Amino acid sequence: MGHFNSEVLQRAKELIALYPHPRSALIPLCHLAQEQDGWLTPEAIEEIAQLLDISPAEVAGTASFYDMFHRKPVGRYLISVCTNIACMLSGGRELLQHVSQRLGVAVGGTTADGMFTLEEAECLADCGSAPVVQVNHRFFSAMTPDSVDQLVEDLAAGKLSDVVPPHGVLNRVKREVGLQVPVEELVRQRREASQAREERARLAQQGQEGRS
Ligand code: FES
Repeated sequence: MGHFNSEVLQRAKELIALYPHPRSALIPLCHLAQEQDGWLTPEAIEEIAQLLDISPAEVAGTASFYDMFHRKPVGRYLISVCTNIACMLSGGRELLQHVSQRLGVAVGGTTADGMFTLEEAECLADCGSAPVVQVNHRFFSAMTPDSVDQLVEDLAAGKLSDVVPPHGVLNRVKREVGLQVPVEELVRQRREASQAREERARLAQQGQEGRS
């Protein structure tokens, strides 16, 4: 029996069908796996590899390149505190220290109840609202020690479940609002882009052979 539940497996197959080459669905499938489990388990890596007909090492190698994928369990809420330049100048490092003390875990650690994991983040692309904190990739801007304490309290009490989904859920994987393109149109565009790329590579190869 596979690792993915039937709904996730169905969505994985739909995603794979969007691409001319199945392996192009590797990153979306990693997000799906995190949506199911909260992190990339060895079983999920195995299943993704089977679905895409590539090796588990290729899946793990790609996943390890991106910060958004976690190869170890993380808490229900992943708190990311930016300490890059704009946030650092606005107290980001002190804020990180404060959250670490508030949660009683070092950076990279998870609270004993499995509720929170704390990480230090590079620029989160919201520098004008520094210092910035993300929780499960949802933004909280211009944070102070008091507002971050309130945030942690509200998360622990389940008051923000409408705003912050469980870790691993990304809107990009399951878009239900905003601009939507028919699946057939997506497939057509990607197939044409792939054919154009292959044609350019073929012509470049011909040119190279002609010169030598
Ligand atoms: S430096 Fe923190 S969001 Fe850019």
